[in-house]
Amino acid sequence: MSTSFPISEKILIIDFGSQVTQLIARRIREAGVYSEIHPCFRIDKAFLDEFEPKAIVLSGGPASVMAEGAPTVDPLVFELGIPVLGICYGQQLMCYMLDGKVEDSDHQEFGRAALEIGDGCDLFEGVWAVGAKPQVWMSHGDRVTALPEGFRVVATSGGAPFAATADETRHFYGVQFHPEVVHTPDGSRLLHNFVRKIAGCSGSWTMAAYKAAEIEKIREQVGDSRVICGLSGGVDSSVAAVLIHEAIGDQLTCIFVDHGLLRMNEAEEVDKVFRERFNIPLVTRDASDMFLDQLEGVDDPEKKRKIIGSTFIDVFDEEAAKIGGADFLAQGTLYPDVIESVSPFGGPSETIKSHHNVGGLPERMNMKLVEPLRELFKDEVRDLGRELGIPEEIVGRHPFPGPGLAIRMPGAMSRDNLDILRKADAIYLDEIRKAGLYDEIWQAFAVLLPVRTVGVMGDARTYEFVCGLRAVTSTDGMTADSYPFEHAFVSAVATRIINEVRGINRVVYDVTSKPPGTIEWGVKYTH
Ligand code: XMP
Repeated sequence: MSTSFPISEKILIIDFGSQVTQLIARRIREAGVYSEIHPCFRIDKAFLDEFEPKAIVLSGGPASVMAEGAPTVDPLVFELGIPVLGICYGQQLMCYMLDGKVEDSDHQEFGRAALEIGDGCDLFEGVWAVGAKPQVWMSHGDRVTALPEGFRVVATSGGAPFAATADETRHFYGVQFHPEVVHTPDGSRLLHNFVRKIAGCSGSWTMAAYKAAEIEKIREQVGDSRVICGLSGGVDSSVAAVLIHEAIGDQLTCIFVDHGLLRMNEAEEVDKVFRERFNIPLVTRDASDMFLDQLEGVDDPEKKRKIIGSTFIDVFDEEAAKIGGADFLAQGTLYPDVIESVSPFGGPSETIKSHHNVGGLPERMNMKLVEPLRELFKDEVRDLGRELGIPEEIVGRHPFPGPGLAIRMPGAMSRDNLDILRKADAIYLDEIRKAGLYDEIWQAFAVLLPVRTVGVMGDARTYEFVCGLRAVTSTDGMTADSYPFEHAFVSAVATRIINEVRGINRVVYDVTSKPPGTIEWGVKYTH
């Protein structure tokens, strides 16, 4: 494998099923070091010989190490002479396997906890001094009660007398808390210490190196087969397409289906960027009539979704057949779309949020998936996009859902109403851009409510639709807060919309956070 990074500097993250394992990889990437996550049952001598890790991290997990059938790992990982960091379940397992003791605790700890640094160790160097009381995030029922030989306690907490343990001779470390989550504010610095100082990695890993490695992986996976990629104009599919194009050139064809549910001028912009700037083979199909004819008058959200999903598949299928089909389908699936990590038990593996996996397309067309972004978070995808030279107007774009404006119109669909919504949305976004707020906001859009209210314009009464405005801040779309616009801004947008868009006479601003709300208004998920 030819990569531009020193292949000797790989960290192996062994997964025991924690929901936040991918965050360990992210933090290690932030420290400039390459890592890979592999489920515990896949680790054996052959694997370790080939992988040649510089260090190993044992992830957290939901099981109890004493339970029958609890996930475990080949004891060889402790015999390689390399540093090992056990996190939560990982710490307990390491202790258990090295002849320490783990017990049920009647004092469970979930959430924020105060750590007390006792002796300290090289993992804490430059981060926590002896006697410090930093905040950490705990989530455990069991706890270590007797240490294996060579280990000592280096930090304690109210519920975990062995909150951090170390055997500095063997370079084995165990932490009961989760350093990978943001609720452990100094956690990323501990992981930095582990991979840079203790494991001695140089920190030369960058997005450029990531790109090179991914390109290599795509080439290996695809060989000389043909790949098609459904382009939506959003960040994820754009980055996936450009990356794959760099890897395999014209073996890739992108298909952009205009379903008539796009924002103002969106279809033209996407078409232009991909043809002119990237010279990527692109089929653009205006299928808006096919979609809108079927959607006319439909107000049930599930029905809308089904029509959109199945029509999309039909159109995509037709266009793919015209270019001779393909063996692989590329998707811009991101890590937060993958709800669960690979099951450490080797059982049913991953589930993807239904809306991201274009309703059954790969099965129906008998294609394999290429998903080069599935380890990344949105902000990292944007960094990768910049690395690939994708213009800022695409890289910095707000997320846009596949079913488009259909889920921002919780009422009967019609071409006229779509037009009204499109105009209001364009004004709102225009004002946000002019105010310099676009990049501060995760996502902003207008919603057309199926409610008419009375208004007065000039001398006459009006009876027209209500337009909802939504803007949220978020880091990954999983949680979100309503954006706190100045009142004057919202009222200026409202005035423009009411003056310039016929069909709307009232504008409201949505101040709901997620949870309990969702970002979009008109969708009912069916996972
Ligand atoms: P919610 O509404 O669940 O949205 O808070 C979280 C993120 O997912 C996007 N989203 C969708 N994307 N098809 C998509 O491709 C959908 O049906 C869909 N529903 C929500 C949403 O825009 C937000 O970024």
